[in-house]
Amino acid sequence: MELATTYMGLSLSSPLVASASPFTINLANIQRLEACGAGAVVLPSIFQEQIEAEQDELERGMLVGSDSFPEALTYFPDPSNYEMGTRPYLEVIRRARAVVGIPIIASLNGTTAAGWIDFAKQIERAGASGLELNIYFIPVDDSLDGSDVERNYLDIVRTVKNTVSIPVAVKLNPYFSAPAAFARKLQDAGADALVLFNRFYQPDIDLNDLSLLSDLQLSTKHEIRLPLLWTAVLAGRIELSLAASTGVETCEEVAKYLLAGSDVVMTTSALLRHGVDYMATLRDGLVSWMQLHGYTSLDEFRGSLSRRHVTDPTAFERANYVKLLQGWGKTNSRIASRQLSGEVEDVPRAQAVVAGGKLSFVSSAEGSKSPVAR
Ligand SMILES: Cc1cc2nc3c(=O)[nH]c(=O)nc-3n(C[C@H](O)[C@H](O)[C@H](O)COP(=O)(O)O)c2cc1C
Repeated sequence: MELATTYMGLSLSSPLVASASPFTINLANIQRLEACGAGAVVLPSIFQEQIEAEQDELERGMLVGSDSFPEALTYFPDPSNYEMGTRPYLEVIRRARAVVGIPIIASLNGTTAAGWIDFAKQIERAGASGLELNIYFIPVDDSLDGSDVERNYLDIVRTVKNTVSIPVAVKLNPYFSAPAAFARKLQDAGADALVLFNRFYQPDIDLNDLSLLSDLQLSTKHEIRLPLLWTAVLAGRIELSLAASTGVETCEEVAKYLLAGSDVVMTTSALLRHGVDYMATLRDGLVSWMQLHGYTSLDEFRGSLSRRHVTDPTAFERANYVKLLQGWGKTNSRIASRQLSGEVEDVPRAQAVVAGGKLSFVSSAEGSKSPVAR
């Protein structure tokens, strides 16, 4: 079975990529991931604050002799608060390059196009095959509008691209007013790939303590639909490589993302939940699914359900929404009248299915496979 693929100009033996998480900083895990079929590994992010704190520390060291404003120095963040310093990070890249053959993609997480970006050069020198930019910017400032936010992203991408010659991926959040147009602007700014999508970790509220609750929830497979939609919309329409990310729980999500047109599929939560060897389960599952459908390579089916290739592209658009809502109404009024006449007791939920570009509804009531509305 041919699982080879290309992602941001890199040749990968498999479309399965371990996305950034603490799991991937460990050399033994990286080796195991390669053995289990990962095509590449993205290291956890090194943060702008971390890099800047180290730079400040260095400058502070130079200032100490002159003792200019000692009291002001106490406001600086302490670099030891961060998990990993920049030097150990570079060392992981070097060592990983020595022990595995798969591409190692480093990750920078920041919000501005400032001096810290020079660190990208050191990442390249350490041997990273590519760089992922996680621009984790939450525009809470109401003086910033959408174009300011987009400009900031584009500035960062241009600055990084001027700094390194390795390929650069941008890990996006889904909250842009016109994702397709913005993807094109990122392409024009020099990005080589998009990762769809990053997850924002929003706080919850603890009703007992009346406090904010910051916890990290792993994803579930129900979260694939938004990245699936934009993968399908962008595939084949832009030149950038596409990495689908979020909600991969089984090989089924992997197959869906590939059908939508992604070049690679990334996973973190599933690995954290099931362990590093789960990568082999995903790979074997993908191979079995391909065999079942008579495919021998990814190119035979990749993107076949993208917006560009489905017979009815409106399945991804407003028209589908209207059909869905109308279909739901029809289904429920039919069920309601059957209920009144005593034919059914429970109201089953209708499930919309798009197959061969056609929309139909099937009852999700147990045992029922028959279409209940068209
Ligand atoms: C514990 C944990 C740590 C993560 N660390 C990073 C990180 O350092 N940089 C980053 O870009 N994403 C990070 N992520 C996000 C993942 O790379 C991924 O985008 C997200 O979990 C969605 O994918 P999934 O549904 O397969 O988990 C982290 C996720 C988790 C759960």
